[in-house]
Amino acid sequence: MVQLLVVYHSQGGHTRKMAEAAAAGASEMEGVRVCLQEALETTREDLAACDGLLLGSPEYFGYMAGALKDLFDRSYESLRGLPRVFRKPYAVFISAGNDGSGALLHIERICTGFQFKKVQAPVIAQGPLTEAALEQCRELGRTLAAGCEAGIF
Ligand SMILES: Cc1cc2nc3c(=O)[nH]c(=O)nc-3n(C[C@H](O)[C@H](O)[C@H](O)COP(=O)(O)O)c2cc1C
Repeated sequence: MVQLLVVYHSQGGHTRKMAEAAAAGASEMEGVRVCLQEALETTREDLAACDGLLLGSPEYFGYMAGALKDLFDRSYESLRGLPRVFRKPYAVFISAGNDGSGALLHIERICTGFQFKKVQAPVIAQGPLTEAALEQCRELGRTLAAGCEAGIF
């Protein structure tokens, strides 16, 4: 059974809705177990154990949410270089008032440090959340799940 972790932070609910959509898309795939978790409740063991990772954050002050950064901070030293972490497939979704580029830049920089493998373009919802953005999140989840299940990432 392939395990996908959808981990996110959300204060106002936008990123949570995106996370739920991504998890729903991933759950459509047979043979995939999806875990949807808030970043503050996620451990480094959760990060290590999953086969694929979907990371969701709002853009706050031109950066990712502190809760997601906190997960990275708590995990980095003990996970860096582990075989279970090296080239772990990941993708990102962001909710932002403007373009979300600050959050994306820093999430991807840290993921490079972990040696995760970016396998899909990010979904960035700008402004009010639309059904189109949620569908992009579902597709993000479906594609990550299908790729992990098929072992192509
Ligand atoms: C404390 C705070 C800081 C924010 N900073 C930015 C920002 O720097 N750039 C931006 O585009 N939007 C910013 N926003 C808007 C949020 O990114 C946007 O409302 C997002 O949808 C919030 O996601 P959430 O509902 O999951 O918390 C900020 C919102 C808050 C509450």
